[in-house]
Amino acid sequence: MRRLFPVTDETAAQDRTAALADREWSLAELAAAYAYPEPGSEPGEPRPWLRANMVSTLDGAAQHDGRSQPISCAADMRIFGTLRALADVVVVGAETVRQEAYRPARARAEFAAARAAAGQGPAPAIAVVTASLDLDLSLPLFTSPLVPTLILTGAAAAPDRVAAAGKAGARVVVAGDGAGIDPARAVRALAGLGHTRLLTEGGPRLLGQFIAAGVLDEMCLTLSPMLTAGEAQRVAGGPSVAVPRRFALVSLLEEAGFLFGRYRRS
Ligand SMILES: NC(=O)c1ccc[n+]([C@@H]2O[C@H](COP(=O)([O-])OP(=O)(O)OC[C@H]3O[C@@H](n4cnc5c(N)ncnc54)[C@H](OP(=O)(O)O)[C@@H]3O)[C@@H](O)[C@H]2O)c1
Repeated sequence: MRRLFPVTDETAAQDRTAALADREWSLAELAAAYAYPEPGSEPGEPRPWLRANMVSTLDGAAQHDGRSQPISCAADMRIFGTLRALADVVVVGAETVRQEAYRPARARAEFAAARAAAGQGPAPAIAVVTASLDLDLSLPLFTSPLVPTLILTGAAAAPDRVAAAGKAGARVVVAGDGAGIDPARAVRALAGLGHTRLLTEGGPRLLGQFIAAGVLDEMCLTLSPMLTAGEAQRVAGGPSVAVPRRFALVSLLEEAGFLFGRYRRS
């Protein structure tokens, strides 16, 4: 793993020492590289920070054969795991849960001390966004998470499905007046539960709504050195915004030709 941006003395040293450039970063180094911003000093509740983590091919595909794994790599998965370990909650669309057979986040010994020091539980909660509540409630995501899985839905969600989800152990959080959620309200609702370090892992239809609502603070994007053509989704979908939202590059890492960018709302 190499840091390409910002350029520091260490970057220059990496250029001189190829062995150093090829070194695998420790999880602690990755955690430092992706630390959430410190909560502001303003009085009142800390402001939630919503970060997305997505992977895209060179030609903009967010999946291949319906999954993101074929366009990912080992370093991407290490960053994926690190970002989870830094988060209070992982927000994900129901289609990604269905297609990627989502499992609960696990507690990892390497992050235990840092999570405890940050006042976090052993693993982030997974928050599934769904209007239909068409979810397999017999999956470990609902039956055996370390922390109860949240279901974010609207007030008009089917009462029998809401009851079934609650019975299965999920915590249902209403964040919209209709069947679906309002993205900004969902962020507020999670903050109200004490979750201020938010991570969304998409999918594209959900991420597009966070972007359109103007509540996405940070985009972590892995650019995979692959081309797939075809009809795959981009990392964000839905109606386009009126004016492109400008983000600033915070850091750029590289391993095996994969680029790991971190961009912050400017
Ligand atoms: N490249 C990457 O980094 C990446 C990351 C994640 C996923 N993916 C890929 O993306 C694909 C799935 O993504 P997707 O965009 O089709 O789906 P998605 O965003 O994961 O999920 C869409 C579903 O989320 C629920 N939802 C979305 N907005 C909602 C709202 N406002 N209120 C209530 N529920 C809402 C709905 O669930 P219900 O139908 O249950 O109502 C909707 O069908 C998969 O192929 C996956 O592999 C790629």
